[in-house]
Amino acid sequence: MEPVVRLEAASDRKAIHALVTAAFGQLDEADLVERLRDAGALTVSVVATVSEAVVAHACVSPMAACEDGGLAGVFALAPVSVLPDAQGQGLGTLVTQAAIDRMRARDAICLTVLGDPAYYQRFGFEPASAHGLHVDAGDFGDAFRVLALGTTGIPLGTYRWHAAFAPLLEG
Ligand SMILES: CC(C)(COP(=O)(O)OP(=O)(O)OC[C@H]1O[C@@H](n2cnc3c(N)ncnc32)[C@H](O)[C@@H]1OP(=O)(O)O)[C@@H](O)C(=O)NCCC(=O)NCCS
Repeated sequence: MEPVVRLEAASDRKAIHALVTAAFGQLDEADLVERLRDAGALTVSVVATVSEAVVAHACVSPMAACEDGGLAGVFALAPVSVLPDAQGQGLGTLVTQAAIDRMRARDAICLTVLGDPAYYQRFGFEPASAHGLHVDAGDFGDAFRVLALGTTGIPLGTYRWHAAFAPLLEG
């Protein structure tokens, strides 16, 4: 059965929470998605379904500039989750690419990600520090990456994840 990729619907909420919990083996990332949604900060939330069951999810939220707190077209892709039994079948690639495509269609400037370079570089993500873009939560080396989405240059500076990430960063 071919997977269907679409934006999340209100009725997906429980299934997304269960899926993200299963993918990460803990509640932290699933609760992050809930906090982002409750804060109105889920800029894009994409699911892949097979036989109408939600099997993969990716979401995007806005980052703010540390200097002035303003939003400058910089967004964060996190988390990306695939049900353990469905991993390794291309579903992660499907929802990641769908989230990227939707952000490009929204004229976002760039998308950051914190994750395994081996996985994310296939989508074109490059080390953010090489572009002069940093995150205030720490130095994550090449794991913090950025993808330009249009012709506007990647803005230099230090950005912060949405406040909904705070419990994850503190834990
Ligand atoms: C990481 C994850 C989203 C990938 O989804 P997936 O559906 O298993 O991946 P795909 O089938 O699309 O695989 C695409 C490629 O990425 C590779 N890959 C998968 N997971 C990877 C990982 N954790 N690190 C590096 N490469 C990975 C696959 O081997 C595959 O490579 P290939 O095309 O050369 O064969 C999924 O495994 C997952 O939910 N993991 C647990 C949660 C997690 O770690 N999320 C990412 C946090 S940033």
